[in-house]
Amino acid sequence: MLKKHPRFYKTMEEIFPGVYEHEKRLYTKNLVPGKSVYGERLLNYKGVEYREWDPFRSKLAGAIKKSLNYFPFEKDSKVLYLGASTGTTISHLSDIVTDGEIYGVELSKRMIMELVKLAEDRENIIPILADARMPQEYEEVGKVDILYQDVAQPDQVDIFLKNTEVFKPEWGFLALKTQSMDISKTPEQLLDISQQQLSKKYDILQTIDLNPFDKMHYFLVLRRKDI
Ligand SMILES: C[S@@+](CC[C@H](N)C(=O)[O-])C[C@H]1O[C@@H](n2cnc3c(N)ncnc32)[C@H](O)[C@@H]1O
Repeated sequence: MLKKHPRFYKTMEEIFPGVYEHEKRLYTKNLVPGKSVYGERLLNYKGVEYREWDPFRSKLAGAIKKSLNYFPFEKDSKVLYLGASTGTTISHLSDIVTDGEIYGVELSKRMIMELVKLAEDRENIIPILADARMPQEYEEVGKVDILYQDVAQPDQVDIFLKNTEVFKPEWGFLALKTQSMDISKTPEQLLDISQQQLSKKYDILQTIDLNPFDKMHYFLVLRRKDI
């Protein structure tokens, strides 16, 4: 009998709810089959279409590649995402949080126009043109399960804590760009100061250095203390 070619044994393994790994690459199931969002590869596996999730383009994918231990995103999660940009990471969350909602806050009009286009195909994305420093402008979003932030601003920790007060998330994901903070301090000092501020409200469950996917970026996984 002929031995089966090894490729028949390669699997698409679900490593977190809605996140798949195949031949060391990450994928999510494409909510809008046939459409690629940012030029990522589409892969048909056993009749299902997947989108490759590029860790060099998305910090959440980078964190997964660097051994993220917590992934609370579920089918019906409500997510507030600050610094949505054109929706690279949000598009993958939209593949995962299929029955939930992702509120994407973005300051730039040019970026939000791209996000609005993305949301035409993906009903679980709700674009909001606003400054994340002013959560009262979008407080009608209400309580969320997860607060995700990637804004690269000097006051990024203050922004995160301000939004925590209003939206009372159980989980926090913070991409911390130390380069945007205070050039007189080292990345390690800035991480330490940020963690001290955050630890008033959150337990810091994991801190990931995103190198080589992103330089001078830490990715923090947080769980609110008072829940
Ligand atoms: C590094 S990009 C985010 C990339 C995105 N998270 C992704 O993975 O697809 C940072 C974004 O934050 C936005 N931003 C910066 N300051 C902001 C603020 N105060 N409020 C809302 N968005 C802001 C920028 O316009 C930019 O689009």
